[in-house]
Amino acid sequence: MSISLFTFEPWATIHQQQVEDALARVMPSEETSPARLHSAMRYAVLGGGKRVRALLSYAAAELVRAPAKSTDAAAVAVELIHAFSLVHDDMPCMDDDDLRRGKPSCHKQYGDATALLVGDALQSLAFQTIADTNAPQALKQVQVLAQATGSRGMCGGQSIDLQSTGLLLTRSELETMHQYKTGALIRASTLLGAYAAESTSEAHISLLNQYSENMGLAFQVVDDILDATADTQTLGKTAGKDALQEKSTYVSLLGIEEANALVKRLYEQTLQLLAGFDKQADPLRAIARFICERTS
Ligand code: IPE
Ligand code: IPE
Ligand code: MG
Ligand code: MG
Ligand code: MG
Repeated sequence: MSISLFTFEPWATIHQQQVEDALARVMPSEETSPARLHSAMRYAVLGGGKRVRALLSYAAAELVRAPAKSTDAAAVAVELIHAFSLVHDDMPCMDDDDLRRGKPSCHKQYGDATALLVGDALQSLAFQTIADTNAPQALKQVQVLAQATGSRGMCGGQSIDLQSTGLLLTRSELETMHQYKTGALIRASTLLGAYAAESTSEAHISLLNQYSENMGLAFQVVDDILDATADTQTLGKTAGKDALQEKSTYVSLLGIEEANALVKRLYEQTLQLLAGFDKQADPLRAIARFICERTS
């Protein structure tokens, strides 16, 4: 294998800007009626967030050599679904969080009713964005994203999360919750990127499924660790809430040290998975590292 000269930061910056521009284009302007709803949608989506899910779409597209341009719709769609999930997650009936991405959460700024509608409208826009491409694999992308978002994906995981408050879940119940609430959309992010190519091999899909299973879990375990160890300013969201709200997390089940060890194991397993792939897998390797070593 040749020595790779890939560096993550410039690659990430370019693609973060690419999805930011595409998101800004796809949402109606703040002046478009109903202006309050459109203003709140743009507030919730633009100018914040690490854009990890978009980066995963671009990275998977690179693995299968799909052009980055044809991946914009996938990257936009997964970030819209993610932003919708965050707006609802913060509402008083869910985690009741006042801070998101370093600013007042959507319902604090615009009120509960508008925040509810923002989530609904972002979800619709995500599917419309994919359908509007008329690409050969758009139907497949819609199926994958719908499954990842619904009752056996993100929404299902959020439901388990709320029902589990104050309870001690078993390790396997906790893993299921994390795979649903966070892993499902991480998986959709990679698969939608891969389906941006005109045809996608079963071998690539299988690799991305395994990659996403590890990284979806790692992503939420790190989120649990950071909630317990980082500060509010660094996170741009309220630190220490999981313990306060008696959430079931990997930290409450295993403690920080074992949770960190799990993340390290998942990272090493993921590098093993990608070992047979040359530089087309560099972005996936780099994002795996970012997910496991991030500090915010
Ligand atoms: C936070 O996701 C919610 C989880 C699923 C853990 P991110 O940490 O990706 O949030 P942003 O998009 O960077 O704000
Ligand atoms: C949220 O998990 C997962 C979602 C589907 C939004 P958290 O409730 O832990 O996310 P944060 O910590 O508020 O970002
Ligand atoms: Mg939550
Ligand atoms: Mg939350
Ligand atoms: Mg959290």
